Amino acid sequence: NCHAVGPGARHGFGPQLNGLLGRKAGSLPGYAYSPAMKASGLVWTETTLTAFLRDPNAVVPGTKMRYWGLGIDEQKVAGLLAYFAQAER
Ligand code: HEM
Repeated sequence: NCHAVGPGARHGFGPQLNGLLGRKAGSLPGYAYSPAMKASGLVWTETTLTAFLRDPNAVVPGTKMRYWGLGIDEQKVAGLLAYFAQAER
């Protein structure tokens, strides 16, 4: 798994995603983000997350999060957003 969420979540191949909504992209200590993510200036909201999940490299050119976005459908994006909205902060 690339990401962890929940109590005690740690960074893996990707950063942990607790408290994601409202967080500045590339801002967690202890995770080696790509320069692209750190410099993106994004804040994770429903809008930015939706766009990023559809096509990560279009929203953050050069991101390390690849092989994603292909064929993710609207329902899955909506489900993920609902999940992050109620998830642990
Ligand atoms: C439901 C699926 C996924 C969601 C919602 C998601 C979400 C995110 C978000 C929001 C970030 C930025 C985090 C931050 O700014 O702190 C991120 C980064 C990242 N994700 Fe994912 N991700 C998903 C799937 C994946 C998969 C499948 C992989 C691995 C193949 C992956 C690998 C990464 C990596 C390596 C980064 C760091 C990117 C960078 O520094 O440029 N993610 N992800």
